Amino acid sequence: MHNMIEIIQGDITKLEVDAIVNAANNSLLGGGGVDGAIHRVAGIELLEECKLLYGCNTGEAKITNGYNLAAKHVIHTVGPIWKGGLDNEQILLENCYINSMRLAFENNCKSIAFPAISTGVYRFPKEQAADIAKHTIQNILKEKNSLEKVIFAIFDLENYDIYSHLFKG
Ligand code: APR
Repeated sequence: MHNMIEIIQGDITKLEVDAIVNAANNSLLGGGGVDGAIHRVAGIELLEECKLLYGCNTGEAKITNGYNLAAKHVIHTVGPIWKGGLDNEQILLENCYINSMRLAFENNCKSIAFPAISTGVYRFPKEQAADIAKHTIQNILKEKNSLEKVIFAIFDLENYDIYSHLFKG
């Protein structure tokens, strides 16, 4: 199962996978960070489709086409804003991974790439977020693995260092 999980340091918009996951906000109308990068590369049609989704609750996920991205689909999920850890942030972040994987399975995706959800603008502590990503994905892959590849596409070096150590060996 471990060889299914890959950690790469780079820009998720470059990955030719069935789905890339976007760390969006509740409006689904774009923003900065990875959300901004994905919309910039996908093009205006992505925003047009997102407008028809009428937002997304924190912890939930919605799927669109990938348009000009190398990926076929974008799975938009909304991570929790870190408020100190007493506001169900952990469960909400787990739900982002659970709901994104559910949509990947429902859409017969063979490969999916995740950014480090909530660890930028939403300020979720990076080590804790990486641990949540790891254990949530590994638990799902134990039960059900119609996926062939799960990639963690980590952009910043701080997160890459954390993910590399966490998934080493
Ligand atoms: N590819 C992969 N990861 C990226 C990229 C990229 N091109 N650009 C940024 N990242 C990484 C950041 O380094 C960070 O580790 O994505 C991670 C998540 O950071 P944000 O994009 O800031 O997302 P998040 O913390 O979940 O905050 C979401 O930010 O951009 C707005 O509209 C978005 O309001 C929402 C909020």
